Amino acid sequence: MPEKLSTHVVKHGDVTQRVGVEVIRARGVDVEKLIKMLIANAAAEFASTYYYYTILRMHLAGHEDYEEICEDARLEDRAHWELIVPRIYELGGELPNDLKAFHDQAGCQAAKLPDPPTAVNILTLLLESERCAIRSWIAICDMTFGKDPRTYDLASRILNEEIEHEAWFIELLAHERDGKSIPSGHFRRGEPGHAPYSKNASFYNP
Ligand SMILES: [Fe+2]
Ligand SMILES: [Fe+2]
Repeated sequence: MPEKLSTHVVKHGDVTQRVGVEVIRARGVDVEKLIKMLIANAAAEFASTYYYYTILRMHLAGHEDYEEICEDARLEDRAHWELIVPRIYELGGELPNDLKAFHDQAGCQAAKLPDPPTAVNILTLLLESERCAIRSWIAICDMTFGKDPRTYDLASRILNEEIEHEAWFIELLAHERDGKSIPSGHFRRGEPGHAPYSKNASFYNP
């Protein structure tokens, strides 16, 4: 059944407003708050995670297996950034036109190189970054569930990979720090940065 005409806010031919926003507002989404949270998450993916993971990975020399896992997590965080940025604009938001301001709005602490940059310290930082990401993305899922299917779909696809990332770093940290075996259940990605959920790529299945 078509919606009642009275709920239609956007006028015929109006390009300053969006029906894509009207319909989620009508279902109870606080769109301004959602945009803020998405910008904070985008900043965490790009500025605090992708950027710093690049540095952290470089300091895992001698641990080529850890480097490879870190590379998947790093490139998938870049995929998360690219997946979510269009949604910010569709909702009528925009990225801050200042990288420093953007960085400072990140919803997770910058994963700066620890001192000393030992494998244990780096893996601990990576693990805690993934945990922050899980908390941040599930907050978007909670806010949009049953009201904004598009944002929910994007956030839940990212959440899938963040949960995998946590499991990977639990496995590596438990091994490196405690000599314990806590398997992540990890199957290798098809190629670095595969991102099976956030890039719509199928799982490695030759
Ligand atoms: Fe991410
Ligand atoms: Fe991640």
